Amino acid sequence: MSADGVTGPPPLGARPDWTIDQGWDRYTAAEHEVWLTLYRRQMELLPGRACDAFLKGLEALDLHGQGIPEFGRVNAQLRRLTGWSVVAVPGLVPDEVFFEHLANRRFPAGRFIRRPDQLDYLQEPDVFHDVFGHVPMLTDPVFADYMQAYGEGGLRAQGLGHLTNLARLYWYTVEFGLMQTPAGLRIYGAGIVSSRAESVFALDDPSPNRLVFDLERVMRTPYRIDDFQQVYFVIPSLERLLAATLQDFAPLYDRLESAPDIAIAAITADDQVLTRGTQAYARSRAQ
Ligand code: PHE
Ligand code: FE
Repeated sequence: MSADGVTGPPPLGARPDWTIDQGWDRYTAAEHEVWLTLYRRQMELLPGRACDAFLKGLEALDLHGQGIPEFGRVNAQLRRLTGWSVVAVPGLVPDEVFFEHLANRRFPAGRFIRRPDQLDYLQEPDVFHDVFGHVPMLTDPVFADYMQAYGEGGLRAQGLGHLTNLARLYWYTVEFGLMQTPAGLRIYGAGIVSSRAESVFALDDPSPNRLVFDLERVMRTPYRIDDFQQVYFVIPSLERLLAATLQDFAPLYDRLESAPDIAIAAITADDQVLTRGTQAYARSRAQ
């Protein structure tokens, strides 16, 4: 939960690191009901679509139970598994605050939940996106290391003036990543697993391109925040993703200074193409 443009001091009532109490007792029955509805909808789809690490994480954290989970209860398990914890924040936080939390194995999550008329789409990440979408993957030791490294890398990228490039890596992995497995293509991105429509679209629709993940390529590719993705990048495994990002990014950032962005739906001669998308969906939305 970070956003370009959020700056300044934390809002009234928040701590200097922008965290607040979750205030679990203040959720209404109707709010818990929204969680349960979203949870049930996703669980009809995700077995066979989400990767094993995600499904195992959901199970380990017991995220269904009584509706919106109490962070304290989630954290008891999560700390034991990978040393991560979830902290509540009032909404979007400044980039450096976000990175600082990740670098210390804390995932900032919104406490609010969407209204019943916003089940399919909302602008700001809520507790369902943040906790159902992101937290299960943090139980995986390799992904847990990747997210911490990302936080450290975020602080560096900011200093080097290349946050735009690094943010694309986050977008196309943590939010919208797909993974190749022996059983087939699987989802690990939080933006997909927390969306009913995109959980189907990302894997099954002929419209988007699906390309083998390449770090530099991803960093040159802009993304859209207002609709389904036009391109997904597919990692061979979490281990390979982590290995690809362990290198020092500074020389890569230097190279990117003279490498132009790649249009969102373009396929280049260097791409390893899994699906050459029709882009029919994107075209239909542009009219
Ligand atoms: N290796 C990156 C750097 O040198 C840090 C990083 C690791 C970024 C993992 C993202 C993911 O800045
Ligand atoms: Fe997210």
